[in-house]
Amino acid sequence: MKVLILPDAGAATERAAGLIAERLRDRPETVLGLATGGTMEAVYARLIRDHRGAGLSFAGVTSFNLDEYVGLAPDHPCSYWHYMRHHLFDHVDIDPGRAHLPRGDAPDPEAEAARYEAAIREAGDIGLQLLGLGLNGHIGFNEPTSSLNSVTRIKTLTRSTRDANARFFARPEDVPRLAITMGIGTIARASEVLLLAYGAAKAQVVAAMIEGPLTAACPASALQLHRKVTVVIDRAAAGALRLRDYYELVHPDGREAEI
Ligand code: F6R
Repeated sequence: MKVLILPDAGAATERAAGLIAERLRDRPETVLGLATGGTMEAVYARLIRDHRGAGLSFAGVTSFNLDEYVGLAPDHPCSYWHYMRHHLFDHVDIDPGRAHLPRGDAPDPEAEAARYEAAIREAGDIGLQLLGLGLNGHIGFNEPTSSLNSVTRIKTLTRSTRDANARFFARPEDVPRLAITMGIGTIARASEVLLLAYGAAKAQVVAAMIEGPLTAACPASALQLHRKVTVVIDRAAAGALRLRDYYELVHPDGREAEI
């Protein structure tokens, strides 16, 4: 795992967006795995600026988002479809026909999950997967005790996740109880993973993910088995890492290692 520690969230966003832009310039036909949530908003804003000012193109990209709430149609203002249009898709040259999210309003959510997993496989699996990190260690909506081999399916959200996401809804009780999410196994098949986490509130879970035991109790710890993971964090989120000095020695200020 490559651990890049940046001074603050702004610098971490710059670093992460730079890595994504570099990948898209090298491989314009990348299959991108996308995430939603507060952490990603600034990353997408930065990518939009690169699109407008530096010619970064999404025209060759196919994308698959990690998850969607069961019961919310794509035009629902709290759906992840809506989030993605608002924060990225409407502002770049991505082909809407190749930008995929699960349909939260599908009449048979389990069949929709199976269809989504098949579509990811059909596309050749994810090339670069972006991830945020839940306070309870979730990636996508793979809540603690999710199978480390899981594929796209329906998950019941924990109280902690519903509380954390209540800020996006008019009333806390409006947060859906179920979501369709890529599985940990689906994410593990990605060629490369880029995870972002900021702030002191995530320091303990960041340490559990990077240095804790491999356990379904912290789904993100499954990334320890992946061959190409980059974790971009700010100093606050790095606060509980035992080997922090080592990560900063290898990657001073989040730069590439000098060999
Ligand atoms: C979003 C997702 C979640 C979030 C995580 C962190 O599609 O799957 O795993 O990435 O909950 O959310 P923020 O960035 O709001 O702290």
